[in-house]
Amino acid sequence: MPLNKNMKQRVYITRQIPEQAMSRLADSCEVRIWDEDSAVPSHILIQEAAQVEGIFCLLTDRIDSTLLAAANQLKVVSNMAVGYDNIDIPACTARRIPVGNTPGVLTETTADLAWALLMACARRLPEAEQFVKDGKWVTWGPMLMTGLDVYGATLGIIGMGRIGAALARRAGGFSMRVVYSDRQRNETAERETGARFVDLDTLLAESDFISLHTSLNETTHHLIDAQRLSRMKPTTILINTARGSIIEPDALYDALSQRKIWAAGLDVIEPEPLPGDHPLLKLPNCLVVPHIASASIATRTRMAIMAAENLLAGLRGEALPNCVNPQVYRTDLSSPDQGNQT
Ligand code: GLV
Repeated sequence: MPLNKNMKQRVYITRQIPEQAMSRLADSCEVRIWDEDSAVPSHILIQEAAQVEGIFCLLTDRIDSTLLAAANQLKVVSNMAVGYDNIDIPACTARRIPVGNTPGVLTETTADLAWALLMACARRLPEAEQFVKDGKWVTWGPMLMTGLDVYGATLGIIGMGRIGAALARRAGGFSMRVVYSDRQRNETAERETGARFVDLDTLLAESDFISLHTSLNETTHHLIDAQRLSRMKPTTILINTARGSIIEPDALYDALSQRKIWAAGLDVIEPEPLPGDHPLLKLPNCLVVPHIASASIATRTRMAIMAAENLLAGLRGEALPNCVNPQVYRTDLSSPDQGNQT
């Protein structure tokens, strides 16, 4: 039913969000919210989507063609994330629904976490902490908890976008050699960081640390499989702060449990959330944290405000400040950009 001119537009928010973003939305919209600390069940999301002009969603929410078919008043979808593989972009574009995301504001915070995982795996921090907590620390030992050096090692970055480049800058402080692979060269990053463009096989064979920074799409789904893991050195540490499904989980389990690679530091994993009794969690050389790469208070607040601004622009019928399918503003609807970096 079309809204009366004086009625506020309706927005569904799929979780509690930082107050500054919430109040911006509540000031000008009629807001409904999923108030529980869990992902909104898809049947409820579909019911809610049918009643609103705007959806403020998270990477845990699937915005697919079933939902879009029910959401016949929907004008805008705003994802509080830089990645948007949870959203069927071609289906939104076909309905001329702009989709917003939050690039840029989480770059440094995410690179910090990737770096923290890299350091923690190299120096075996989770194992060492557990050793102390278990009361096993009885003396200083020449070989106790010996790990791998970070300084001077080779870092391989798969996907030299904003976050990959931010990681390369951190590597500079540790005198690392940086190589990267991507669909195309990033000459700006090369100039800024000294990173060298190589093909994926060379990167897998030469890197001491490999960090993933591509988006998840058909070409990157299970990119790191048994064959690619087998090209890595037995001392390689694999870091993933991008999307879990870029790594094939059974192949990773085999590589880690058989010590074909040294360790993995994972912020993201397939599946998410990872059940507490998952075999990967039993391995001392696998460090898993719960998808927190952008989780600093300041960054999550910036992301929420940016997502709120995208949403409000969409409701006003204006171009979103950060739109992943700008084709919706063109008269000829060509295929949407499926960018390959984060
Ligand atoms: C987090 O994973 C994001 O895409 O923002």
